[in-house]
Amino acid sequence: MSIGETYDPLGSHLLDPYPLYDRARDEEPVFWSPAVGAWVVTRYEDLLKVLRDPETYSSVNPFTRALPIGEEAVAELGKGYPHHPDLIQSDGETHARLRAPIAEVLKADRVAALEPYIRERAEELVEGFAGDGAVEFMERYAVPLPCSTIGRLCGYDDERAKVAYSSLLAFTTLQSTHLTPEEEVEAARSGVRLQRLLGELVRERHANPGTDAISTVVRLSSDGGKPLEYADEAAIVANLVQLMIAGHITTVPLLGMAMVLLLTHREQWERLCADPALIPGAAEEILRYGTPASGLYRDTTRAATLGGVGLPEGARVVLRFNAANRDPARFERAAAFDVERKPGRHLAFGWGVHYCVGAGLARRQLEITLETLTARLPGLRLTAPVTFRPVHDLRHPEAVHLAW
Ligand code: HEM
Repeated sequence: MSIGETYDPLGSHLLDPYPLYDRARDEEPVFWSPAVGAWVVTRYEDLLKVLRDPETYSSVNPFTRALPIGEEAVAELGKGYPHHPDLIQSDGETHARLRAPIAEVLKADRVAALEPYIRERAEELVEGFAGDGAVEFMERYAVPLPCSTIGRLCGYDDERAKVAYSSLLAFTTLQSTHLTPEEEVEAARSGVRLQRLLGELVRERHANPGTDAISTVVRLSSDGGKPLEYADEAAIVANLVQLMIAGHITTVPLLGMAMVLLLTHREQWERLCADPALIPGAAEEILRYGTPASGLYRDTTRAATLGGVGLPEGARVVLRFNAANRDPARFERAAAFDVERKPGRHLAFGWGVHYCVGAGLARRQLEITLETLTARLPGLRLTAPVTFRPVHDLRHPEAVHLAW
């Protein structure tokens, strides 16, 4: 069977897709996959070629659509705001305009201002289970830390943060896995719930601006003191929905993956405990080797050639960030996890015009997590094999059981 026919990302390749990607990079670096309905791009150089050429490879539709959405789910979505492009799902000038306010609220000074809070919250969460001898890390730490961080950034409390996270998690399944019609409707309802929550915040902050990220995004995206038109509100909410999704669904799995990788390479965990100066390098290696955002799509706007394959206009390609990050043509001993590796430019945060605006915030959450856990619980060990959520394009551990 050809590589494309064998490829089963939600089945036999969910736990470990890497042997298939190794074979693909050697034999058929850009292969057609009926399972995802796209050309799968696996070599580092080919990903760069796509990421450097946004005019040929459009970002208007960057997520999987595993199945067409049923009428009832479409009707539910119709109860929310009308569709509006957001920064991840746009090109050219529209993208630059939508990216500017979001990039502003994630600049280095904003991240630095959040650090004491992230550290305090990390310590509080760890103290919450440190006396128990065992923990399911995703539920007790990997989910609540990013929820609180984004909540603090945007100026809302942990109650709203919980609603936001559960809504966006359910909503994203609409595009990333196979659902029953009932599940689709529930996912669509969750999306509308998230929009309403953000719409409420946008109106609140427009009327009563503060220094939080939502107030800043509203100010930079609307016309000064004028009343907020419904269309403006819809546009701002769409961009904020994407900020919320991107800020949570990647960082949650990253924190879980960090523990899985370090504790399955325990001598490296011990090295971090002995020498915390290794933590920033370890964070980069976890991003390279774990690559939580494992795939995003592009559509060609004109005919192009990629990895020896002629693509017509309108061809769909999926960038396999996790395959590229283990490409031996780019990284020495690419298949080895090594926290002391010399830094190389991994693609875990993408590259070019759509490069992750939240990279700095994600890095700090990971580093602070490692600083806190190596200091407080150096005896950590993994007590059960890890499984992954059956969703496309994310490497998301379902549960991470730890003991000490
Ligand atoms: C482990 C953590 C993270 C990973 C692996 C990650 C990964 C990525 C990747 C690969 C892209 C490129 C998208 C593309 O090329 O189409 C991206 C874009 C983006 N990320 Fe992140 N991200 C992370 C954390 C965050 C955080 C914490 C935030 C916000 C708080 C964030 C917000 C965004 C946004 C808004 C974009 C869109 C930028 C644009 O299209 O111009 N990300 N991210």
